[in-house]
Amino acid sequence: MSLTISVIGTGYLGAVHAACMADLGHTVVGVDTDPAKVEALNNGTAPLFEPGLDELLAKVLQTGRLRFTTDFAAVADAQVHFVCVGTPQMVGENAADTTYVYAAIDALAPHVQDGALVVGKSTVPVGTAKKLLTKLTARVPAGVTPRLAWNPEFLREGFAIEDTVAPDRFVYGVHGDPDSDAARADVALLDQVYEAPLATGTPRLVMDYATAELVKVAANAFLATKISFINAMSEVCEAAGGDVVALAAAIGHDDRIGAKFLGAGVGFGGGCLPKDIRAFMARAGELGADQALTFLREVDQINLRRRARMVDLARAECGGTLIGKRVAVLGAAFKPNSDDVRDSPALDIAQAARAAGGRVTVHDPKAIPNAMRTRPDLDYADTVEEAVTDADVVLHLTEWAQYRALDPATLKTLVAQPTIIDGRNALDRDAWRAAGWTYRALGRPHA
Ligand code: UDX
Repeated sequence: MSLTISVIGTGYLGAVHAACMADLGHTVVGVDTDPAKVEALNNGTAPLFEPGLDELLAKVLQTGRLRFTTDFAAVADAQVHFVCVGTPQMVGENAADTTYVYAAIDALAPHVQDGALVVGKSTVPVGTAKKLLTKLTARVPAGVTPRLAWNPEFLREGFAIEDTVAPDRFVYGVHGDPDSDAARADVALLDQVYEAPLATGTPRLVMDYATAELVKVAANAFLATKISFINAMSEVCEAAGGDVVALAAAIGHDDRIGAKFLGAGVGFGGGCLPKDIRAFMARAGELGADQALTFLREVDQINLRRRARMVDLARAECGGTLIGKRVAVLGAAFKPNSDDVRDSPALDIAQAARAAGGRVTVHDPKAIPNAMRTRPDLDYADTVEEAVTDADVVLHLTEWAQYRALDPATLKTLVAQPTIIDGRNALDRDAWRAAGWTYRALGRPHA
């Protein structure tokens, strides 16, 4: 049965969620405080690059089931309200900034009707849902019974639509006893929202608020740990003359380990993993459980060390100094198929190479506008050819398919020194070497 839904916050999560919910047949109103974002979305333009999102927006806007507004009053008849606002890292601190979540509840509460369910999707420090329910209770109109569930989101950028409509699992955090009538009613309403994906057999797990909040950060902490584990092995491989790519493939054959997320390289970035592990440590500290998560500090350090190692390798390949050397950087986004540059290893390395005296030029197929906003002092090129012209060293930092398809022989004619450092272990090493390049990589022996 189709429902009337509101989605509060139309950033990455909210824009995708609103479009996907409308595509499932629900009537959706997306709310954001930014009028420019709302206008663009109403015209079918997403505030970010995500494969398929503009097309999906165009399709569902045409049905009339989706619209965006800055007016919270427009959500009044919604049966389900999804809170999808961001929880960025606080400036100068590890903790997450939950201001927007509380502000969303403040703005939403006066418009919540009796029977409506508020559903948190944002990634929050454990304990937030309980506090939000208290806030909601204090602010809903008289006669309205407040209902709040926690339904964390596990979407990956680049696969956001697929992950929203066909996730690995749904997690519902409910208030109090999951067998109570109130909790069962909340579960039933969420089941209506996700009726179509649930019908395909997607697991649905019901638990308390705290566990649901923790599932999200625990999953991200595990993923970050897996990447830092293989990057730690990469450091050891470099010291011992081993090959981390062969090592990862071999341990990945063990089903208990699994081959995914063992890609060694410059490490993880983006708007989730780095800030989520830091916020998780900060919250564990508040709870007196900081010892349980001290290993995440090491996970963070290993991750950041790979960025520094990349700059060291570039310096070594340039004869011991980057001063005055031309450094071509392929990639600015934190991962391919995204224009997101938040905590991007590529941009961090580009900036560090520049700080070390390099003349750095950055190319990326999609992320240059965002990169220019955050790192305006770097130089940018529209084409790979322009970026690598006269380069003393080329750094491959985001594994776009376009870079894997490059012809090393053609590029060799443009550079000053045919040296490439593959920070993602994603290029065809043999092809680059055969074309006369010095090919270096993290965690692999130097031929
Ligand atoms: C992540 C989680 O995967 C997702 O479930 C959660 O909802 C949000 O955070 P995302 O940040 O979109 O998603 O990207 P992801 O694909 O997880 O990659 C994160 C970072 O790890 C990227 O910088 C990527 O390049 C890096 N990575 C990934 C590696 O360095 N090696 C790998 O093997 C995999």
